[in-house]
Amino acid sequence: MTDRQLTEKIAETVKEAGKIILSASGTDYGTDSKQGHANYVTKYDRKVQEFLHERLSSLLPEASFLGEEEGEDVFREKYRKGWLFIVDPIDGTTNFIKGYYASTVSVGLFKDGKPYIGVIYQPYLDHIFTACRGCGAFDNGKKIMSSSLPLCDSIIAFGTSPYRTDLWQKTMKLAGEYLMKGQDLRRSGSAAWDCCMVACGAAGLYFEFSLGLWDYAAGAVIIREAGGVITDIYGDELKFDGPSSVLAYGRGIDPAELVYPERSNA
Ligand code: IPD
Ligand code: CA
Ligand code: CA
Repeated sequence: MTDRQLTEKIAETVKEAGKIILSASGTDYGTDSKQGHANYVTKYDRKVQEFLHERLSSLLPEASFLGEEEGEDVFREKYRKGWLFIVDPIDGTTNFIKGYYASTVSVGLFKDGKPYIGVIYQPYLDHIFTACRGCGAFDNGKKIMSSSLPLCDSIIAFGTSPYRTDLWQKTMKLAGEYLMKGQDLRRSGSAAWDCCMVACGAAGLYFEFSLGLWDYAAGAVIIREAGGVITDIYGDELKFDGPSSVLAYGRGIDPAELVYPERSNA
C-alpha cells in the first residue's frame, strides 16, 4: 500500500467514525467529568475511540494506539520506534455536548516518533483534511496551501486551554496583543479544526498554551504539508512526545512579527 492509499483508507475510517457523532440524539450523553475545569467525556467520545481503535488496528496491525480516552495520558518510549496512531475521538467535546456543531475527529499516524499522516474530519460540514509526509495537504481531495497574507490581513485563531484556569490570563493577554496586529480573532473550540484553518489559509495563525498530543498530532502534518509552520509557543521545535503549547502560522507571516510570551514552567 502506498502512503496515499494508506491515507485514503484512514480517511474512509475517520469519516465512518464521524457518523457516530452525527448519530447522537436525546439528552443522555453519558457525560462524566475529567480532570480540570469543565472537562468532560461522553459515551460518544468512548464509542468513536473504540470504533477507531478496532478499525485502525486491523488496517495497520503493527501500529500502537494512543487515544485520549484510553485513560493513559502517557507517551511511552516504545512509541519512538515504528507506527503509532494518536487519536482524539471528539475534538471539541464541549461543542458536542452543547450542540455547537463544531467538533472534529482527529487521527495522526506517527512513524518513528514523528508525524507522518494526518486526517481531520468535521462531520457537520462534511470536510475532511488529509496529508501525508511529502504528499501535500488536501481538503475534500482539493490541494490546500497555507495563507500568503501578512499578519495584519489575517484571522488569528486561538484556544483558551479551557481546562487550565492558570493559563487563562496569559492566553487573553497574548490574544489581545495579536488582535492589535491582526485582522480579528476566532475561538472555535476544536484545536484540530484551528490547525486545519491555518493549513487551508482561512486563518493566518493559531496559538494555544496547552494541548494534548492528540490535539495537534494530525494537524501538524496537515499544516506542514500546506507550507505552514508549527512550533511550540516560544518558537521552539515540537518534541511530539506529550502535551505542549502550540504556535502555527501560514507562509505569509513574517516571523519578526510574532509575539512570544514570557517563558514559564507551565
Ligand atoms: C479541546 C479543544 C479545545 C482546546 C482544548 C482542547 P477536547 O479538546 O481542542 O479547542 O482549546 O485545549 O483540550 O477536550 O474537546 O478534546
Ligand atoms: Ca482535543
Ligand atoms: Ca477529545
